Amino acid sequence: MPTSVAALPIRRLTLDDLHSCADLSEDRGWPREEHKWGLLLSAGTGYGIDDPQGKGLIAGCVVTSYGPGLSAVGMVLVAERHARQGIGKRLMRHVLKEYEGTPLTLHATPNGQPLYEQLGFATTGRAEMVRGPFMLSGRTPRVSTRPATADDLQAILKLDAEVFGQDRTHIIARLPAFADQLRVAEDAGALTGFAAAWPNMDTYVVGPLIAHNTETAKGLIASLAVEADRPLRTDIDVRHKELLTWLKAQGLESIAHNAVMTHGIPALPGDWTRRFAPLTVAAG
Ligand SMILES: CC(C)(COP(=O)(O)OP(=O)(O)OC[C@H]1O[C@@H](n2cnc3c(N)ncnc32)[C@H](O)[C@@H]1OP(=O)(O)O)[C@@H](O)C(=O)NCCC(=O)NCCS
Repeated sequence: MPTSVAALPIRRLTLDDLHSCADLSEDRGWPREEHKWGLLLSAGTGYGIDDPQGKGLIAGCVVTSYGPGLSAVGMVLVAERHARQGIGKRLMRHVLKEYEGTPLTLHATPNGQPLYEQLGFATTGRAEMVRGPFMLSGRTPRVSTRPATADDLQAILKLDAEVFGQDRTHIIARLPAFADQLRVAEDAGALTGFAAAWPNMDTYVVGPLIAHNTETAKGLIASLAVEADRPLRTDIDVRHKELLTWLKAQGLESIAHNAVMTHGIPALPGDWTRRFAPLTVAAG
């Protein structure tokens, strides 16, 4: 069995594979996250291996490309029944070959980290996943925020490119449809940050979160939380200690730490001081 599995073809995934991808997540004890899979499969490129017995996928992952400067790998999954047979390594080698010459990044779980290290990825940062019902305590952040409108798009894209360090138009332009809320912060008419919140199973994920300082990041989160009908979740770069401390004081708890890894570059491009949280750890 292992020999034949090792020879199975790797194919591109499409939106038609969404349910099989969610089944794969479930197989590994992850939530199905169909809304997120839908975004990743439409904005990015999925790779998968079909079960020869017709039982869906035995492995999959998605790559979100930001041009020649960066691509992000996420949702790397191998069905439990085929674990430790070299399939994860083969899938990742395929991705490395397809994106040869392009710097790669990913957020690694402790489960995936040894595999990525074997393939030349290095840990260049960490993100802390926090989750819980948000209850504003202490003073309200002094930041002016409002819902984004179509007129804000160009300014959002400009700020995002500066802070993310790559052109993310294909992702940012999808936010109004993907997210429940997209809000901007401004000071004297100038854009000082933006953040989205989108539904993911039983949580409401805050990301991307871009802000010119921590107070602005707090104001954006607090304003998004007003309409949240479930616990918030976000993945904060651990260098943003003040924001993490504040989030915990507002009721969120630390759930996990993930390693931010890169391949082909010593650190992520852009400006981490204004980049607080990714859209999703699966898209960099
Ligand atoms: C991580 C994952 C994709 C690895 O897939 P896999 O096909 O089982 O991995 P491989 O057989 O190709 O193993 C490659 C190497 O990774 C390491 N590895 C794999 N599973 C591991 C585990 N459970 N614990 C520690 N190391 C592990 C080993 O070093 C292994 O090499 P070895 O077998 O020669 O020792 C798979 O375990 C999985 O789907 N896990 C759940 C989802 C997840 O955490 N994904 C990673 C997201 S970042």
